[in-house]
Amino acid sequence: MSLSFYSPFVSTGHFHCNHQNHISPPSTTTTTSALSPSLNRRRKERRSVLTRSLDLMDVCGVDSEGKEFNSAQEMWREEIGEEGDETKKTQWYRDGVSYWEGVEASVDGVLGGYGHVNDADILGSEVFLKTLMQERLVNVNGGTNQHLVALDCGSGIGRITKNLLIRYFNEVDLLEPVAQFLDAARENLASAGSETHKATNFFCVPLQEFTPAAGRYDVIWVQWCIGHLTDDDFVSFFNRAKGCLKPGGFFVVKENLCKNGFVLDKEDRSITRSDPYFKQLFRRCGLHLYQTKDQKGLPQELFAVKMYALTIDTPPKVHRTRSKTRSNRPQIIK
Ligand SMILES: C[S@@+](CC[C@H](N)C(=O)[O-])C[C@H]1O[C@@H](n2cnc3c(N)ncnc32)[C@H](O)[C@@H]1O
Repeated sequence: MSLSFYSPFVSTGHFHCNHQNHISPPSTTTTTSALSPSLNRRRKERRSVLTRSLDLMDVCGVDSEGKEFNSAQEMWREEIGEEGDETKKTQWYRDGVSYWEGVEASVDGVLGGYGHVNDADILGSEVFLKTLMQERLVNVNGGTNQHLVALDCGSGIGRITKNLLIRYFNEVDLLEPVAQFLDAARENLASAGSETHKATNFFCVPLQEFTPAAGRYDVIWVQWCIGHLTDDDFVSFFNRAKGCLKPGGFFVVKENLCKNGFVLDKEDRSITRSDPYFKQLFRRCGLHLYQTKDQKGLPQELFAVKMYALTIDTPPKVHRTRSKTRSNRPQIIK
């Protein structure tokens, strides 16, 4: 995969909607002033809809070919058909996997030609994970829970497990629908870890078809893959996975964010969601937003990346003086 506009990591500029997702629009992009008055009016209407009722998901979005959608529902109807029509949905998932089947099984491959962001990404994740583990996985004796287990979802070639998870967890399971990636992960992890820190299970299935083992995991890590799931499958996955967390366990979702609405990538069949879009889905899952953090140090042309820590238990009330920072404290998704 090249560093083209269609790289899953590059913030696409192919749209005319009210989005500010683009870095620099391609020369073919129509400017606002060149638009007809009615199109300008439509944009203004959309802008007011965006600010008024994100809750209803009636946010506009665009695809990588410049097509605009008035709502996420409109886009999903077009991409996966009406409810109950499994043919189009099956094709959506098949196309997503086929795309990745054509990508080299390397760090550069799974990062869309941006292999050099690996270090910054892992460092950002490690700082986030460490804080969360100290807060949530420490037992009454002040040590971490006895035997820690993580699940790496859409693991690709095992990049995150190898560089991060295996150092903190006694066991890591990997889930990845592309067989060649999972084979590479198995190879990459063969010499990583130790007797007490190892990759255990390699599941070659897509997230939408997976139900993790009940009560097995302290952390379920979902990074750069949930954009392949439709909204309903997203919600359904987290609902199934809730029962697989141990007490104190949590989800980490680390994903690209567009500024508003959504951006559909026609090439790899994925969507980049905005922060409010994610929050609405988390709320539909009945998850609590425990902590969030922006990933720093990534190249400017890429989408912004955010980490969300989500719990199934209600976060405890935090009693702080007004002078303490309000950011990053546990909160229920509003
Ligand atoms: C951008 S790569 C990221 C891989 C890995 N998470 C990382 O950060 O190194 C996206 C991954 O999502 C996987 N993927 C595609 N469709 C998926 C699905 N339906 N369920 C789970 N993973 C999927 C791809 O095969 C690919 O390995």
